[in-house]
Amino acid sequence: MKIASIVGARPQFIKLAPLIRAVQEHNKNNPKLRIEHLLIHTGQHYDYEMNKIFFKELGIPEPAYNLEVGSGSQGWQTGEMIKKAEEILEKEKPHWVLVYGDTNSTLAGALAAAKLHISVAHIEAGLRSYDRRMPEETNRVLIDHCSDILYCPTESAVKNLKKEGFTNIINNGELITENFMTKNLSNLSFLESPEVINVGDIMYDALLISLEIAEKESIILDTLKLKPKEYYLVTIHRAENTDDKNNLKNIMQALFEISKGKQVIFPVHPRTNKTLEILHISQKDFIKLKMIDPISYFDMLMLLKNAKKILTDSGGMQKEAYIFQVPCITIRNNTEWVETVESGWNTVVGANKKRIIESTLSNMDIQNLSYRKFFGDGKAGGKIISLLIKK
Ligand code: UD1
Repeated sequence: MKIASIVGARPQFIKLAPLIRAVQEHNKNNPKLRIEHLLIHTGQHYDYEMNKIFFKELGIPEPAYNLEVGSGSQGWQTGEMIKKAEEILEKEKPHWVLVYGDTNSTLAGALAAAKLHISVAHIEAGLRSYDRRMPEETNRVLIDHCSDILYCPTESAVKNLKKEGFTNIINNGELITENFMTKNLSNLSFLESPEVINVGDIMYDALLISLEIAEKESIILDTLKLKPKEYYLVTIHRAENTDDKNNLKNIMQALFEISKGKQVIFPVHPRTNKTLEILHISQKDFIKLKMIDPISYFDMLMLLKNAKKILTDSGGMQKEAYIFQVPCITIRNNTEWVETVESGWNTVVGANKKRIIESTLSNMDIQNLSYRKFFGDGKAGGKIISLLIKK
């Protein structure tokens, strides 16, 4: 069996690592049922700190193809990727194309494959913020609806897909068709409806695989002279916060106030950097806030684990904060990771200066917060492969 993974942006390299491991494990145990895994990089992220370092740290092999698309408007970037991915998929003819998350690379990979009638597996399916102004939300909806198997990271993601009419849900290894209408109307549509399964979050696999090595290898706390639980960690890169200059100004003003107390560490995404330059905001405006280049995954894990609180608009970091049981303040108006909010570990505050400051400086009684394993058992990669091989 031949499968192809299409990736292009930083979080996808992290999600890819456990999948590669699962394929290697499968091939070791099943030499007669070998999986050939083709890696296609769209080139959406290209800077060393956004790209190469992740391949190096996570032991991801060189991609077989790099489409070298780079940056551009939403439509241009996605279009270029589709065009170039199509050529390769036509030539390589994989049985399955695997796409990860919700970026333009994910959408392009899914569309290119679906139009060539190649089956699409979406990893991290079913997430919804119900905010169509986010490019990622449009991507999620479209990707899910052109995929053939939907690997959800959580139960709430499965529920979202049920609401959108997906009926074939795999539960405990058994396929349950939940919508009697579909079943009765046409046996064919019932059979062709994509399968939905909660395998857990593959980013949790990645975290478990990497944490031990990160603990040994990362020297970021020493380099930045940080003491555990004595600093706040910030990341901002969403279009809604970087393209809207007022939002970014509000956030930076809040960080100015917060950094009068504890140290603030802010690895700056290239997109954010561009807007900060336009606003003439730089390191010299702050005393205890450190703006640094984007950091590696291992360094990020160590910074996350030891932070007092996390302030972010990233999706992945909200989950990672939860897993490390570090309170998170989400600088967005909504989130897909509703479990983290419902359990009290995550507070959604938007780009509202007052709310960012108040929630960061508030004393949270984290001892009384509950913690449940919403993100599975860290074995999503293996489950994905074993299901795919049966197809
Ligand atoms: C993308 C994803 C987002 C994901 C994020 C992770 C989409 C719509 N968005 O956003 O969901 O959370 O990646 O980082 O796909 N740039 C560089 N160097 C790089 C990469 C980007 O300078 O290596 C600059 C580009 O010039 C561009 C900006 O960053 O101006 C945005 O890059 P892009 O890849 O389009 O989107 P992200 O904001 O990174």
